[in-house]
Order: sequence, then C-alpha cells, then structure tokens
Amino acid sequence: MIDLHCHILPGIDDGAKDLDDSLALISAAINNGITHMVCTPHIQLGRFDNTIDTISTAFELLQQAVIAKDLNIKLAFAAEVRICPEIMVLAKQAKLPFIGQWQGKNVLLLELPHSHIPPGTELLIKWLHKNNIIAMIAHPERNRDILADYSKLKMLSRVNCLFQLTASSLIGDFGEGPLQVAEKMLSENLVTIIATDTHSVKRRPPKLAQGRVAVVNLVGEEKAQQLVFDNPHLISASKFI
Ligand SMILES: [Fe+2]
Repeated sequence: MIDLHCHILPGIDDGAKDLDDSLALISAAINNGITHMVCTPHIQLGRFDNTIDTISTAFELLQQAVIAKDLNIKLAFAAEVRICPEIMVLAKQAKLPFIGQWQGKNVLLLELPHSHIPPGTELLIKWLHKNNIIAMIAHPERNRDILADYSKLKMLSRVNCLFQLTASSLIGDFGEGPLQVAEKMLSENLVTIIATDTHSVKRRPPKLAQGRVAVVNLVGEEKAQQLVFDNPHLISASKFI
C-alpha cells in the first residue's frame, strides 16, 4: 500500500519528534503493509514555517537512516499545506511541494482548519486549478462545518478538487461523526485516496490496513485497492522513479 499523507519527518512539525520517533513510525508502517510513503509535514504559516528547504533537509536525514538500517520502505516528500491566501504567492514562486500529479495537474495536499471552511475556499481551489494545480482536501470528514452540514462537502465536490480520507476515521478512531461522513463519501464515490495521517506510534499510528478492511466491507475489494494502491500510485509515480 502507498501512503500519501503522514507526519514522519523528524522534528519539523507535530509528528515525529526525532529520528527515533521517525524510525519507529516507519517500522509500524511496514508492519501495517505500507511499502511507499510520501512524507507530508505541515506548512502552516506562523506555526509550522516549513519550506521545501527545511523539509528536504529533514527528509535527507531520515532517508540516510533508512538506508543505513536497510528498512524496506520507499520514501519521498511533499507537504500538507494549510489554506491561506499566501498559497497563491507560493504557487507563483514555485515554492509549493506537491504529492504528485493527477490528470496532468500537480496535486496539492490542502488542509482546511478543523473548525470551519474559510470563506473563499472554493475560489482558491478554482484559482489553483487555473494554475495547473488540483487541490486534494485532507481529511474533510473531520471538518466541523462538514460534520454539521454535509451539503458543504457537496459544494466543495462541485469545484475541481480531490478528497483524502484518513484511514483511522473509517474504524471510528475520530468518533461517530467522522465515521459517518467517511462512509457517506465512500458510498457516493467521492474519495480519491485513503491515507494514514500518522503522527505518533502511541497517539496516531499508521492504520492503513485497518482502513482498507473497512473500505472492502463497505464498497468492495476493487474499490479498496483503488484507494490504497492504484490512485496513490498514479499520483505519486513520478516521485518514486
Ligand atoms: Fe496531516
């Protein structure tokens, strides 16, 4: 399985604190059946001021440790970018890290605040699309606006964007609300990939295999394979050459 959303780089966001943490998360991911991971630390201006430079430095550190320990995992890096107006500037300056490509466009893993959908979100997504970037909304099933009113998700789905579900939402780790939204999205065929969004072995371990089983039970084996392998593979292929 291929995981396109995880926080395993050492010491640059609220995921792995250090290299030991990173390696423990990678071991957990391998045990969970994951073969490829695109590391996606937060870029959130004022809180996690990461750039392609800070991310690539942490990535190289981890990559060398993985090679030294001969761990059976392929790694690449991108970011999970919190929505803000500055994204347009970063896009123009070619400073946005992408998780890959989808139908000829670069894929931006875009995070909304958990509390709401900011005004202008749809306009930004449309602007990105005109600039050859397709937004993949990270874990919409955990957004409070969407939890309160599912039609907000339908509005987003009408602009050009993709959706990533968190695997552990599908087994109820985030409670009944996110579970129901996740199941509804699956039944309506609105999901592009599922991913771990893993942060820590204790608090939020990788549970892609468990999420996959939940998808099989809901919509069948073929769809599950599409969401944990086929689509992530299509998107990230250029990062694992
Ligand atoms: Fe995340």
